[in-house]
Amino acid sequence: MSEIAKLELNGEIFEFPVIEGTENEKAIDISSLRTKTGYITMDPGFKNTGSCESSITYLDGEVGILRYRGYSIEQLAEKASFLEVAYLLIYGSLPTQIELTSFTNSITKHTLVAEDMKQFFEAYPAKAHPMGVLASMVCSLSTFYPESLDPNRSKEAKDLTILRLLGKLPTLAAWSHKNALRHPFMYPKNSLDYCSNFMHMMFAMPTEEYTVDPVISAALNKLLILHADHEQNCSTATVRVVGSSQSNLYSTISAGISALWGPLHGGANQEVIEMLEQIQNDGGDVDKWVLKAKDKNDTFRLMGFGHRVYKNFDPRANIIKKACDDILEKLNVNDPLLAIAKKLEKVALEDEYFKTRNLYPNVDFYSGIIYRALNIPTEMFTVMFAIGRLPGWISQWKEMTEGGEPIGRPRQIYTGATERDYVEISKR
Ligand code: ACO
Repeated sequence: MSEIAKLELNGEIFEFPVIEGTENEKAIDISSLRTKTGYITMDPGFKNTGSCESSITYLDGEVGILRYRGYSIEQLAEKASFLEVAYLLIYGSLPTQIELTSFTNSITKHTLVAEDMKQFFEAYPAKAHPMGVLASMVCSLSTFYPESLDPNRSKEAKDLTILRLLGKLPTLAAWSHKNALRHPFMYPKNSLDYCSNFMHMMFAMPTEEYTVDPVISAALNKLLILHADHEQNCSTATVRVVGSSQSNLYSTISAGISALWGPLHGGANQEVIEMLEQIQNDGGDVDKWVLKAKDKNDTFRLMGFGHRVYKNFDPRANIIKKACDDILEKLNVNDPLLAIAKKLEKVALEDEYFKTRNLYPNVDFYSGIIYRALNIPTEMFTVMFAIGRLPGWISQWKEMTEGGEPIGRPRQIYTGATERDYVEISKR
């Protein structure tokens, strides 16, 4: 028999159904609460609020489990390609070889962006942050494909927009970097795989041959898979809310990119490296910075530490830490920041403050060190995250629109002034 939750309010008892997921997660369905009682719930930051049922990603923050469509992140990061994972997230099952080849070829056909868009890039100052450029460019894509403005037009139109986004995001990302350098844009090379093509557009020059090191594209493949989805985080929740107004997919993804940019979310990977550099330039005294992070009068936080849902360990951080050692060794890179990161992790993990608050390194604590080894500039780190997260955002948007979810619209408790009369300006 299914469980019932009872709420006693002013002597009256109200009953609410309990929803149970396939992994036995439970929720009290309060969708009828306001109608029945006149009350709403209050949960700033949605720490206890489920906004949807979803069959895409399962995570258990207490135990450190992360699975996409039932497959463990460990197996996917070890064995799959990023586009295979993208297909899995978006269409719900691992592709057959024929499906994967067709999906890959279709994405490859859409890697070019309209020539007119080059002028948009050129209008940005060289110091423009690439996340600002990327969010604007992705939204601008909607102006080139007016047929995409109705996101529910047809299945074919929806699939075409999805392929275009997957094909063009790496091009737009790499061009935002080239533009910052005022270097010529490199066109996509469709004979290359997804990750190698991105590196080609980032680092090749028209004047010389450039070959992508397979160690580098394999490292990038792993990083993108680790970032591909993470259920209802800040940017994904943004994507679902923006998409719920039936805004087109380009503008919806652009909103997700903007949400990701913040230092408490995807922007943390850039902040981690800047923090490690700051500690290095300050003489490398890790204890001093741990003390600062614990001081409630100091706004400094250990970036790359803590997570809203992982309260034991972040399984992605474990994979990344190991990958970081492997990749640096294979590329023969000796990064002094890695030594500082390891020392910082050790000191923090042994410290009562971090232990009692369950603060552990998250996925972005080590990802920046790998990106540095791949020569990706620090300002591009969050852009790399956005490329990885794109299939997750798309799958969550697709699930939300196809499930007919209502427009996202939270309520509030008003705490402002009660009604008062307008006062003429001369009397204020
Ligand atoms: N350094 C020092 N103290 C911290 C840190 C940190 N990195 N993170 C949390 N705390 C402390 C808080 O001050 C708070 O202490 P208190 O109980 O004494 O007030 C306690 O731990 C709980 O922290 P909250 O901010 O309430 O936790 P919340 O779940 O809201 O925030 C967040 C999670 C935003 C990730 C936070 O841990 C943080 O700011 N971390 C640093 C930024 C970061 O790495 N973000 C990336 C997250 S992963 C991702 O989005 C891909």
